[in-house]
Order: sequence, then C-alpha cells, then structure tokens
Amino acid sequence: MKIGVFDSGFGGLTVLRALMERIPEAEYLYLGDTARLPYGAKSRATVARYAASSARFLVDEGAEFLVIACNTASALALDAIQAAAPVPVLGVVETGANAAEASSATRDVMVIATAATVESHAYAAACSARGLRVIEKACPLLVPLVEEGWIEHPVTTEVLRIYLAELMEQARAAELKPDTLVLGCTHYPLLRAQIERAVPEALRVIDSAAVTAVQVERRLDIPRGVADPAGPARFFATDSVAKFRVLGSRFLGRAIEGVELVDLGS
Ligand code: DGL
Repeated sequence: MKIGVFDSGFGGLTVLRALMERIPEAEYLYLGDTARLPYGAKSRATVARYAASSARFLVDEGAEFLVIACNTASALALDAIQAAAPVPVLGVVETGANAAEASSATRDVMVIATAATVESHAYAAACSARGLRVIEKACPLLVPLVEEGWIEHPVTTEVLRIYLAELMEQARAAELKPDTLVLGCTHYPLLRAQIERAVPEALRVIDSAAVTAVQVERRLDIPRGVADPAGPARFFATDSVAKFRVLGSRFLGRAIEGVELVDLGS
C-alpha cells in the first residue's frame, strides 16, 4: 500500500512520523508544496487549485490513499482534492474534530489555526456536528516563527502568551468552559511544549498527528508484519530541497536524505 501524504510545507511531516510509527508496513510518498507555502493566508480558490494539483501529483506517483496533512487544505479544499484524486482522501480537520470529541468532557473546545482555516469555520462545523461548542482563533505569526526555528525563543513565548490570553478571553466572553485545545495547524505540534506550559494544566492539548494515524490504520486493511518504522519513504518538494532536508528533519524527528524537486506550476 502506497500512502500519499500532502502538506503545503513541512508541518505534515509530524503526521507522516505518526503514520510511519503506526503503520510501518506501508510505503509513503510525501509532498511539501514549499514553493507555494504558506496556504494559510490565501483564498479558498487558490488553496483548492494548489492542493488539487499536489494531490494529482501524488496519485500519478502511485499513491493509493491520500492523507491531507495540512489543516488549511483540509478546511478549504477537501472537496476539490477528492474531485481531483481518484483515491480515498482523509483530511486532518475531521480527525482533529474526532480527537476533540474524544477528549472533551465539558463539550467546549478551542482551536488555534491559520487565518484561512479559521475564516473557513471548518473546525466550527466539524465540532458542532459532534455536539461540541468551539472557539476558533487565528495565530498567523506562529508558522513563520516555527519556520525560523524559533521554538524555545523569547519572541515565540511572548507571541504565544498574547494569542493564548486572547483565546481564553474569547472563551470567557462566550461563557464556555473549554477543557481541550486543538492544534489546528500542522506547524503547531513543534510548539506543543511551549503551549502546554502557557495554558492551565487542566487543559488538554491535542494535535491530529497520532489520531490521524489511528484513523488511517482503521480505514486501510494493510497486512501487518515486522517492518522498519524508518522504512520506505520518498520525499518531494516544490522548492529548495536543501531547505526541505534541514527544516523537514526537525518535523520528522530524523534525518531526511533524498528529496526530489518537482515543478507543479504556479
Ligand atoms: N500546513 C498549514 C496548515 O496546517 C500551515 C502552513 C501554511 O500556512 O501553509 O494549516
């Protein structure tokens, strides 16, 4: 089974990492559309066009199942991706909402994400469909801070403090009692430790990487056996392969050797 994993950039490698640990028997194709990143500040039409061409590329390379490991593409373009790709497609908004539902006792949750994801209200729709009340907040400065490698950095600490204080205030004003915070952007798991330190201890912080891997495993009937979790994976990027190797290794948690450069147009 070849599983295609797509993100606008590097963040989806956190999902790939969880998939490789959970389903090491599969082969993986990862595409980071780094030339056209960030998706999070773009319109629905543009994100749909970029994501559909990326999905088609992965299917042409042999992907039999697609994981859209990008919250923005999942929120704005899942239908367009499914229309472009003749294979089953799973997006991380649905898996994130499932994780929120499983986590929340109060039925009140909060989501932080890119501006485009928040403006789409895809999380609000997915959470409401599960009987959850939700507060969404865009945190547009976090992606560039992570890309810069400023993980444990005073600027990032301060930016997070401000965003999270505003988020808590939004929840108070709406008279919600959230017990769960969803990291609705695939860059944010790298800030998880910082975020957990900045929020009340009782608040559960969840990202969709692990839960996505569990849901892929349930959907696919992959023969199980002894396999290497660092097993077969091909990496594709639409911009500098050198940058992908360096930044990508941070997200994947291990060195990335070969990266193939692809041109998907503009
Ligand atoms: N991958 C995007 C997401 O999960 C974040 C980066 C971007 O804006 O393209 O929303």
